Amino acid sequence: MKRRDFIRLTGMGTLGLLFTGCGIFSDKAASPAVAAENAGSAAEGIKGKKILVAFFSRKGDNYEVGYIEKGNTHILADMIAEELPGADMFEIKTVKEYAADYRACTEEAKAEKEQDARLQLASKVENFQAYDIVFLGYPIWWSDLPMPVYTFMESYDWQGKTVIPFCTSAGDVMTGLEDRAIPRYARGAQVKLPGMGVSGKRVQEEPEGVRPQVKAWLNKLGYNH
Ligand SMILES: Cc1cc2nc3c(=O)[nH]c(=O)nc-3n(C[C@H](O)[C@H](O)[C@H](O)COP(=O)(O)O)c2cc1C
Repeated sequence: MKRRDFIRLTGMGTLGLLFTGCGIFSDKAASPAVAAENAGSAAEGIKGKKILVAFFSRKGDNYEVGYIEKGNTHILADMIAEELPGADMFEIKTVKEYAADYRACTEEAKAEKEQDARLQLASKVENFQAYDIVFLGYPIWWSDLPMPVYTFMESYDWQGKTVIPFCTSAGDVMTGLEDRAIPRYARGAQVKLPGMGVSGKRVQEEPEGVRPQVKAWLNKLGYNH
């Protein structure tokens, strides 16, 4: 599904147009091919590196999947961590709970995006400075990263760390903002692309079909073991 269809189906037309105006919602920005162009050429292994898989994900009623007990991005994060022996996981959680109702949540998120809000997070990563590589996962919210992920990025010193983004959404895409937003808010981080963008519905309903894609992506990054 294309992002435009998502906007149409959820009645987000007005804000969608706004994104177009900002250049955020352009087809170029949404194209996974753009991220692929930035792929690191030299495959650098993960031997001896300390890895964190950090993710934000929401359970409850969601787009095209009904009520879910485990968020789509959470499932993808688990799959990535399973391929990276010794990796730690961290769930980015807000103090406030987002509405379980899908439409109510889209309204909350819309207001937060418009205010460029910084949500208070419920916990911090222990010993963050010890990590070399951070896989950072999130659902696409309003063609952007959810606001709590910005709080997360701003909460640490990222000097010397490599960040590899992954996300779920209505389609198999990234936001297209990763190469700019991550170094800007996770100051000092080096972003390694391509990230991985997968349809949340597919992750939720056909995880075994997504797993080989995860393996191939990690191989391409040189992060296979
Ligand atoms: C508040 C909100 C905003 C969303 N905005 C978008 C969007 O702009 N584009 C898109 O493709 N999907 C959008 N979605 C769909 C989610 O990205 C998708 O369902 C994702 O897989 C949810 O991941 P999670 O279960 O880990 O939270 C939105 C969903 C929510 C709840």
